[in-house]
Amino acid sequence: MAVDPDLAAITAAQQRTWSDGDFSRVASMINGVAENLAEALQLLPDDRVLDVATGSGNGALAAARRTWVGAVGSDFVPALLERGRERAAAERLDVEFVEADVQNLPFEDASFDVVTSIFGAMFAPDQERTARELLRVVKPGGRIGMANWTPDGGLSQLFVILVKHTGGPPPGTVPPVLWGSEDHVRQLFGDGISELRTERRVSKQVFRSADHYLDFFRTYFGPLKAAFDKVGPEGAPALEADLRAYLEEVNENEHALVLEPDYLQIVATRA
Ligand SMILES: C[S@@+](CC[C@H](N)C(=O)[O-])C[C@H]1O[C@@H](n2cnc3c(N)ncnc32)[C@H](O)[C@@H]1O
Repeated sequence: MAVDPDLAAITAAQQRTWSDGDFSRVASMINGVAENLAEALQLLPDDRVLDVATGSGNGALAAARRTWVGAVGSDFVPALLERGRERAAAERLDVEFVEADVQNLPFEDASFDVVTSIFGAMFAPDQERTARELLRVVKPGGRIGMANWTPDGGLSQLFVILVKHTGGPPPGTVPPVLWGSEDHVRQLFGDGISELRTERRVSKQVFRSADHYLDFFRTYFGPLKAAFDKVGPEGAPALEADLRAYLEEVNENEHALVLEPDYLQIVATRA
């Protein structure tokens, strides 16, 4: 029997998880993904761009570098928005940071030329509502650009390990990595879009070793920090062993830990 998930409670729990640690430290490793997406979208001066689930602003800053007009970044973690404001100030870029849940955006219909999300909107539990919100705030003929981890591409295994040890996912929800499947994205956007272009790309993260990775991610990456908190001292060795085995399996470099997880880059045109 299908379970009706309590989406508000799940969203609130996720907000606490992403508030833990400091994702801005991880975000600097995926800045290239935001730059690639901005290039794929061929952003031009005066395009009004909103980057949702912006974290510390990678997508919003990439937009502001090209559009010469204020970009907007929204996220539900105030501390990450504050990091974004610091970055925008340091680069003298015009970005407004707004606190918002991607499932309930505080923007008028058709108020942006382009809406982007980099490994962000994919995590909201209500995927249909998220897709509707992205479509709602973009103008007809405007574009939605996303970068989403794929269901079969490296990082999905990390999420499987977290779920195995923490007892998730919440009943009735669908895995976030389905946003990395072209068929699923077509289903979610339905006849709200007139065109969909996708490209499978590779991101890159470089660490000295598995120890270095684990130490860094346990400190700064909320979902991993929360998983270790949840399993407690008794469960930590088993979780760490699974993570270490995964890292060693995917690493092909003899001198360092080099991860190259696949993601799906999406450019959709609003019908
Ligand atoms: C993996 S991080 C990516 C952040 C950013 N897009 C980047 O490229 O660095 C996921 C982000 O999604 C945000 N997020 C997750 N669910 C959200 C929701 N329902 N509404 C708003 N933000 C959300 C988190 O707070 C976090 O900043």
